[in-house]
Amino acid sequence: MCAKTKKIIHDTSHITYESLLEGNKQFIEDTLNEDPHYFEKLANGQKPPVLWIGCADSRVPANQITNTAPGEIFVHRNIANMVIHSDMNMLSVLDYAVNVLKVKHVIVTGHYGCGGVIAAMSNQQFGLIDNWLRHIKDVYRLHADELDAIKDEQERTNRMVEFNVIENVYNLCKTSIVQNAWLNGQPLAVHGWVYSLSTGIITDMKVSAHNSEHMANVFKFQ
Ligand code: CO
Repeated sequence: MCAKTKKIIHDTSHITYESLLEGNKQFIEDTLNEDPHYFEKLANGQKPPVLWIGCADSRVPANQITNTAPGEIFVHRNIANMVIHSDMNMLSVLDYAVNVLKVKHVIVTGHYGCGGVIAAMSNQQFGLIDNWLRHIKDVYRLHADELDAIKDEQERTNRMVEFNVIENVYNLCKTSIVQNAWLNGQPLAVHGWVYSLSTGIITDMKVSAHNSEHMANVFKFQ
C-alpha cells in the first residue's frame, strides 16, 4: 500500500456529521445519472441469494470487496464475525434470511489482523467486551495444541482467525435453522472465508457444507 493511500485511510478528519449527509446527496445524484429508476426498482423488495456474517471492522464491507450492489447481499456484522447460539440478533437475521428470503448461501467472513481475535488471544481485560471475546477464547482452546506450536506471533494470529471462521461455520451448522432447512430439502450451503486487509484477497477455507453429514452425532437434529 502506498503511503498516500495509507494516509487517506487513516486520516478520517474530513468525515463529519454534515459531510455524510452531503455524501448522500452526491450518491443520489450519481446514482440517478446512471439509472433514473434505480431507487424505484430497489424499493420494490429484496431477493438477496447470500447472507454474509462478517466482522464489524470498517475495512471489511461486504458489497465493496465482492463487487456486489445493494440488494445482492443480506448482511449481519459483529465483532469477530461470531455465530453465538444465544445471540438473538444473529439468530433473527439467520432465520429471516433462510426462511423468508430463502438465501442459498451463508458465508462467515473473517479477516486477518482482526482486532477482536487479537484481543481474545491476549490476557488483557477490556471490560464488558470480555464476555463476547470469551467465545473466541473457547475457539482457541479447541485448537490450542496447533496454535501454541506456532512460534511466529502473526502466523499464530492468522491461523487463529482461520480457526475462528471454521468454528463459526460449524456453529451455523449446529443451529436448528440451518439443519431444518437441510431436513426440508431446501438448497442451502454454508461457507467460511478469510479476507486479507493487505492484499484484498478472499481465501476460501474450504469448509463448505450442504448437509449435516460431517457433523458430530450429538449436534444432529432429526
Ligand atoms: Co475483525
